[in-house]
Amino acid sequence: MANSVPLVWTDSLLTGVAEIDLQHRVLVDILSEAQVMLSGDSGTAQFERMTRDLLAYAIYHFAAEERLMQQSGYFIAAPGDYENHLARHRYFSERVVALRDEVRLGKKGVESELLPFLEAWLIHHIQSVDKELGQFVGARALAPDG
Ligand SMILES: [Fe+2]
Repeated sequence: MANSVPLVWTDSLLTGVAEIDLQHRVLVDILSEAQVMLSGDSGTAQFERMTRDLLAYAIYHFAAEERLMQQSGYFIAAPGDYENHLARHRYFSERVVALRDEVRLGKKGVESELLPFLEAWLIHHIQSVDKELGQFVGARALAPDG
């Protein structure tokens, strides 16, 4: 864990939707703080708190994105992508809960699995499906009847 590369915000993560970009920055910050916290001599209580805070914010953020998909008409224009996007959000939450349960059950080494998963998931998710959504919303805003 001590050797992991710090997660930092870069503009390559911008989707073009201000509300979503702001929330993504918060998620990156939460993961950066978690990286510092979990690289030290952290206990199960800290791990619990971190995953709880992360999940709470992630669920709030996913709801905001899903509302945007509804309000922008994305769910009608691209139903397959919409369903896929929702499934990815569910997967993230389920995975974090599963890892937390493993820690509660006393499984060792879960902490070192968690951050690489979270970081890889977040970066890939933003750069793929969130950017697609951002492009859709941006194009819609530019359309004469948008
Ligand atoms: Fe998303």
